[in-house]
Amino acid sequence: MSKRKKKREKILLVEDDHGVAFLTRENLEEEGFEVDLAYDGSQGLEKLNQNSYDAILLDHRLPDMNGIEMMKEIQRRGIEIPQIIVTGAGDERIAVKAMKSGAYDYVVKTGDLSYLVALPITIRMSLERYNLAKEKEGLERQLKDYTLLLERKVEERTKELLELNENLEQLVREKTKELKETQAQLVQAGKLAALGTLGAGVAHELNNPLTVVSAEADEILDAVNHGYLDQNLVVVSAQNIKSHAERMRVIIDHIRQFARDDKNSEWKKISINDPIRDSLILLRTQLESLGIEILLELDENLPKIWGHHNKLESIFQNLITNARDAFKNIKDRRHKTIKIRSYQKDRDKIVVEVADNACGIPKDVLPNIFNPFFTTKDVGSGTGLGLSITHSNVKEHGGEISVISKAGEGTTFILTFPLERRKKLKTSNE
Ligand SMILES: Nc1ncnc2c1ncn2[C@@H]1O[C@H](COP(=O)(O)OP(=O)(O)OP(=O)(O)O)[C@@H](O)[C@H]1O
Ligand SMILES: [Mg+2]
Repeated sequence: MSKRKKKREKILLVEDDHGVAFLTRENLEEEGFEVDLAYDGSQGLEKLNQNSYDAILLDHRLPDMNGIEMMKEIQRRGIEIPQIIVTGAGDERIAVKAMKSGAYDYVVKTGDLSYLVALPITIRMSLERYNLAKEKEGLERQLKDYTLLLERKVEERTKELLELNENLEQLVREKTKELKETQAQLVQAGKLAALGTLGAGVAHELNNPLTVVSAEADEILDAVNHGYLDQNLVVVSAQNIKSHAERMRVIIDHIRQFARDDKNSEWKKISINDPIRDSLILLRTQLESLGIEILLELDENLPKIWGHHNKLESIFQNLITNARDAFKNIKDRRHKTIKIRSYQKDRDKIVVEVADNACGIPKDVLPNIFNPFFTTKDVGSGTGLGLSITHSNVKEHGGEISVISKAGEGTTFILTFPLERRKKLKTSNE
């Protein structure tokens, strides 16, 4: 049989009237069907058990059971096959019942057997409907499978995405931690750099008392050598030496305390004037020697803010050294001043202004000054970190920093600190 040749559909015909059965078979075979015969219900069921058929043609009146009973038995046995019921004329009610019970179609017998002409068409249509229904079923099953597959894929992908998201969050957490560490190192580096910038000043600060100590010692030695050692002179000199040694101790202590890593330093209620004054310990003498007058207008009755002494001191050191450097660009003989004012604004703010009358900041430079590593100073004399660290220190206190400057006339930094700042706010910044 060539592959192209269409397969003949196999029909089981259950009909107790032998004559009708033969005639029907002949007619169907002529139409291209293969037909098997059974003469009663049980024979039909047996044949269905042994062979497979494409469709079954069932006479309703059978000797051992009726067509509908047989249909039900076929369904009970799980045999899926289109069933066409053949009823006698006038039995249309049975046809309706059969259709309700799952028959694919029905044919009404006529006495002249003319119904045989329509029979092949009825069978073909039933087969087609059956095949279509099967195809639909298959497609629906496929669709269901695809839907399930898709749902599983979506589920897997969602899981993957969630994991990815979690990894990403973990990465962000790690990076944030790294960044905080780097920032802390940067602050420490900036502080050491600030100390470096202060270096010359520190030498200055120590030189002064050292000179006094040395001069007093010379005087005592001189007196001893010339034999006019007077007890009063020794006492005065020793007191002078002591007070200047004390001054040196304060300076050295201060450097040690300031350079210390901040991790263990405390946050507490602080009077803003303390770090302002302390910031001058290492700077005052050198500012004086440069002819820069420091004017302090500090309100002594200010409420305390929540703060970190070293960080606040570092803020004022940075602003004062910047002002000091800005006077290097002044060629005229103006009276150089750095004025620091502290005062309360409204009920909830403390303001500190650091104002100089030095060279000022040109308009095109102004937007950059808080950027890390931005400097207009010569290579080696500025790291450009001062104001960026100052900015983050002010922010850590919940404060704001702004600047007003006019090229050639001077610069004022305005710092605002909140009064109602709780410990938790500072810890969230740590
Ligand atoms: N009071 C000021 N007067 C004029 N210019 C200023 C003043 N304060 C800051 N600037 C300008 O802002 C720039 C950045 O200041 P910043 O303190 O961040 O870095 P720096 O002073 O250059 O270096 P360092 O890291 O040593 O502080 C300075 O180079 C300077 O041009
Ligand atoms: Mg600076």
